[in-house]
Amino acid sequence: MIRFEDVAFEYIRRDEEGNVEGITRALDGVSVHIRKGEFVAVLGANGSGKSTFAKHINGLLIPGEGSVRVGGYDTKDEENLLKVRQMAGMVFQNPDNQIIAQTVEEDVAFGLENMGIPTDQMQARVDEALEKVGLTEEKKSSPNRLSGGQKQRVAIAGVLAMKPECIIFDESTAMLDPAGRREVLSTAHELNRQQGITVILITHYMNEAVGADRILVMDRGRIAMDGKPRDIFSKVDELKKLKLDVPPVTELAHRLRKSGMPMPVCVLTEDEFLEAVNTNGGWLPQGGLKYGKR
Ligand SMILES: Nc1ncnc2c1ncn2[C@@H]1O[C@H](COP(=O)(O)OP(=O)(O)OP(=O)(O)O)[C@@H](O)[C@H]1O
Ligand SMILES: [Mg+2]
Repeated sequence: MIRFEDVAFEYIRRDEEGNVEGITRALDGVSVHIRKGEFVAVLGANGSGKSTFAKHINGLLIPGEGSVRVGGYDTKDEENLLKVRQMAGMVFQNPDNQIIAQTVEEDVAFGLENMGIPTDQMQARVDEALEKVGLTEEKKSSPNRLSGGQKQRVAIAGVLAMKPECIIFDESTAMLDPAGRREVLSTAHELNRQQGITVILITHYMNEAVGADRILVMDRGRIAMDGKPRDIFSKVDELKKLKLDVPPVTELAHRLRKSGMPMPVCVLTEDEFLEAVNTNGGWLPQGGLKYGKR
């Protein structure tokens, strides 16, 4: 579905006269293949190249070296760009910057107008997209009245109306409260599971990466790690060197294990943690701790 081959990209800063002031190599030898239907989380410290990577997937940036193919279309060929942008849609960080229209449905229709979709097909596409993100009842509302999480779902619906194969979330939960974050994250998971949409989720929240099929860790423009969440988050020390953390519950289990308590090598969720404690803790009340599913 998405294939990067030895991609490098440099931002060139120039002064007012056009002289080169500095060059940042934001991607450096990136080769990766993302299959259709995968849910991939992308982690990495500030400035490691995540957004630059994302912008290559929908042709907002074109590789300086190497190639990017999306659904077989090389993003370097200008005649492919419309197709690439329709196939891979982006949802950004700030919900307020992404809303343009007076009503929710007009906002979702906006991208379709630009794509030249005939008017008689537009309403059906808009309705379908709003249904998928659970905002049918808000379609006549003003987007300004919605919560941050709902606004992000409007942005997702705008992308869905284009019938994409892939959605890239570039820190789309960063400005939301915990409820809004859960809303957006569960929408991403539903679209992946139910519609088979490939999801690329860029985040600074380690917890959000736990449910991914695969994690890519970026460092100084390179892909430093690529694996399943359990493989990645068991490398606590390596992640710390890349200025990253593991989920809090993973960290706690790791420390308990280091101090001699029997714990599985990598605990990813609170349920797994409690399971391990109940299995191993001879000091617990008979029958283990009682806890409810979250
Ligand atoms: N428009 C730009 N012009 C010049 N340099 C840029 C530009 N955008 C990004 N960079 C530089 O390229 C590098 C990679 O930036 P990028 O935005 O891809 O990182 P990121 O991993 O998304 O960071 P963050 O976590 O802060 O969003 C950084 O050194 C950044 O300063
Ligand atoms: Mg970024």
